[in-house]
Amino acid sequence: MPLFGWVFPRADSESGLHCPSELAFTVESIEDDLTRTHDTSEPRLLVLFAHPALEKSRVNRRLAVSAQGVPGVTLHDLYEAYPEGHILAEREQQLLVDHDVIVFHFPLFWYSTPALLKEWQDIVLEHGWAYGSEGDALRGKTALFAISTGGSEAAYQADGYNRHTIQEFLAPLRQTCRLCGIDCLPPFVVHGTHAMPPRTIERHAADYRRVLEAVRDGRIDVEDAAVARLSRLNEDLDQLLPRAEGGDKGGESHAR
Ligand SMILES: Cc1cc2nc3c(=O)[nH]c(=O)nc-3n(C[C@H](O)[C@H](O)[C@H](O)COP(=O)(O)O)c2cc1C
Repeated sequence: MPLFGWVFPRADSESGLHCPSELAFTVESIEDDLTRTHDTSEPRLLVLFAHPALEKSRVNRRLAVSAQGVPGVTLHDLYEAYPEGHILAEREQQLLVDHDVIVFHFPLFWYSTPALLKEWQDIVLEHGWAYGSEGDALRGKTALFAISTGGSEAAYQADGYNRHTIQEFLAPLRQTCRLCGIDCLPPFVVHGTHAMPPRTIERHAADYRRVLEAVRDGRIDVEDAAVARLSRLNEDLDQLLPRAEGGDKGGESHAR
């Protein structure tokens, strides 16, 4: 009997988020835009998705479906791939090598990642491979953290309820990346998930898709000082990604 009624497997016909037997999968067009083409020379994104109770998820499940529909994105559901928690380092390392951008996608649990994503770090980021004098396998890659919080944005300020910003809570992950030679983008954050209306969830899902496409297409650049200054990438997406620049051909509405 799983703890706290968190059940596996993670089959979910409604969301389509189900990976029956493979370690990871890419869906080139789960949603409907058949006219898009994906240039294989563009950076490939690996979404490391960690949610231990997908059947209860409202926000991240929807966001994951959004990610799944982006060409060039591999959605890798860690709890689906490793229901027993036994992470295979070599397979994970190969996935990392095969992608340019690593998206750590998770709900904030106790100001940190769900447990399996911590285990993933311990097992996969080996000395001599990811870091250390000869560990350069990840050097030059880019990381993005896509997270949701029950707490509001106001609660994640120095004078707020949680007394620290999200960037401060992400410091261990950011420094882990830095140690491995990975540059970090500001996070994509969905605050205030409790009782979030479906319409707002849809808006965040559309924004997530827009961000992933922009990162893939090089329209969000880790070297850009204006990007680096953001506390979260989705602070004001219309300013960050003016629609006139094109490339935003996703089938989802961005209406606010
Ligand atoms: C074990 C646990 C720990 C949590 N810790 C935090 C936390 O530290 N900060 C916070 O803002 N929300 C916290 N939450 C709330 C989750 O972040 C929130 O339920 C999640 O973002 C909602 O996304 P979902 O609909 O995909 O499940 C926690 C929830 C659980 C179950």
